[in-house]
Amino acid sequence: MHRSPIDRSRLEDALGALRAHAGRRDAPRVDALFRADPERFARFSVAFDDLLYDFSKQPVDGETLRLLVELARAAGLEAKREAFFAGEPINHTEGRAALHMALRDLSAAPAFAAGEAVEGVVATERARLLDFAEAVRAGAVRAANGARFTDVVNFGIGGSDLGPAMAARALSPYVDARLRLHFVANVDGADFADTMKGVALETTLFVVCSKTFTTLETMTNAASARARVAGALGEAAVADHFCAVSTRADRAEAFGLRPDRVFGFWDWVGGRYSIWSAIGLSLAIGIGRAHFEDFLRGGADVDAHFRSAPLERNIPALMGLIGVLNRNVHGRAAHAVIPYDQRLARFPAYLQQLEMESNGKSVDHEGRRAALDTCPVVWGEPGTNGQHAFFQLLHQGTEIVPVDFLVAARPTAADEKHHQLLFANCLAQAQALMQGRGRAEVERQLAASGLSPQQIAALAPHKVFDGDRPSSLLLYASLTPRTLGRLIALYEHKVFVQGVIWDVNSFDQWGVELGKELAVKLAPIVADPAAPLDGLDGSTAGLIAAARARRREA
Ligand code: F6P
Repeated sequence: MHRSPIDRSRLEDALGALRAHAGRRDAPRVDALFRADPERFARFSVAFDDLLYDFSKQPVDGETLRLLVELARAAGLEAKREAFFAGEPINHTEGRAALHMALRDLSAAPAFAAGEAVEGVVATERARLLDFAEAVRAGAVRAANGARFTDVVNFGIGGSDLGPAMAARALSPYVDARLRLHFVANVDGADFADTMKGVALETTLFVVCSKTFTTLETMTNAASARARVAGALGEAAVADHFCAVSTRADRAEAFGLRPDRVFGFWDWVGGRYSIWSAIGLSLAIGIGRAHFEDFLRGGADVDAHFRSAPLERNIPALMGLIGVLNRNVHGRAAHAVIPYDQRLARFPAYLQQLEMESNGKSVDHEGRRAALDTCPVVWGEPGTNGQHAFFQLLHQGTEIVPVDFLVAARPTAADEKHHQLLFANCLAQAQALMQGRGRAEVERQLAASGLSPQQIAALAPHKVFDGDRPSSLLLYASLTPRTLGRLIALYEHKVFVQGVIWDVNSFDQWGVELGKELAVKLAPIVADPAAPLDGLDGSTAGLIAAARARRREA
């Protein structure tokens, strides 16, 4: 048995102790904890090279931290982390390991996925990939007409899109100025059409990314592009203008691709953990070998930290445990990620898949109803934009949403003055969430502005901020490839930690299947205006009929 069942009663005891302490009604506010302890910032933040994780604005004291670590031990975190790194088949519903860490280990140390040595194939495939990326960048691999490629269009969805798309944006200052990277995910033809409008077909390289090479969206987009290339440039040009990344080379080759243009990865790499594999091809073409390797190094840095740092100073473990505190002690159902870093605009979307597809589960490893509430709703947008949109709710809404802020100490290829304003705003929002503004202060301010007592009484409640709203902050020197690798890996391991405590399988995604199956059944009914609607539920039948009527009118 690769996995010892969780000891529910030990977990419940640990959680009970945590709830009794951290959830007690008279727990001091965080700003009071700061006043009482001048060392609070140092005690509740962890530096890792240039990266700093500050969780001092979270509702923790020394005892909370001790109890969180006790909870992690009760869930068997340390042993399960070792099983994870040892490549045991911890994805038990699919009988697979989850060994994406092997992809970023440039030292090629021995790595075993479900008992099979993989470091050799990983190194070989990475070398193929990076050689190809460099050849495209250097103009050694060219379009059918002999010209250099100017555009790279990535077709993929979910993990085959979000990773490279997010990273390409994050690392845009590192992307070769002669190349433009595009990402098409949606089966909505608008995504394809709008992208194709902006590229010159005769100098575009298409990268078809799909772990399974069966995904409806990706296959539809790839087929449309293939038809366009064959139509405009000739069938023979397809082999020059397409490459693919998949665990199913056979299917990619059946699509008409040359074997040397098909890059592989393995079933022990989950889609949402695959940016480190050949799925990073478009990114690697953009940023080149040296930067891509640096990105991998960033991930490996965090692997070493996660594996060796004591839980009390272990950033992903702490991120996971603070999330559990907010979710399972304080009942917070949402979690916001707000990068004060415009180039991380897609990072929240990336994390939505990473966190919600991994831990959005309600059945434990034994197939029982999960004992604890699992993944909160993860969402976010960059600051400062969010301040002018949804921050109202963060400050004064009835739902308390813990926030992760991310910010660089220095801008990358951006104006220093802008950055200072960005940085000040980030700190101000975290400060405002913590401190709030009490009734007395609001009344003082209103009185100073000359309002009458009646006016003050009417207005004051609207201007009160309760404060004591939790946030953490990840500070890094600047958004380099290595930093991005570290940030992603921190969240990956946070997800692992939470999956262990919630006792769910973080590496399967059965919840995406039902909708896919139903879509396959509905597609012919949608396509055929005369197809009978009997047998469908009333809502679906009504909607199809309404759409048919509107199509007829149009
Ligand atoms: O539908 C969910 C999912 O399976 C994700 O887990 C995955 O990242 C995405 O679809 C794309 O799958 P593929 O890479 O096989 O096309």
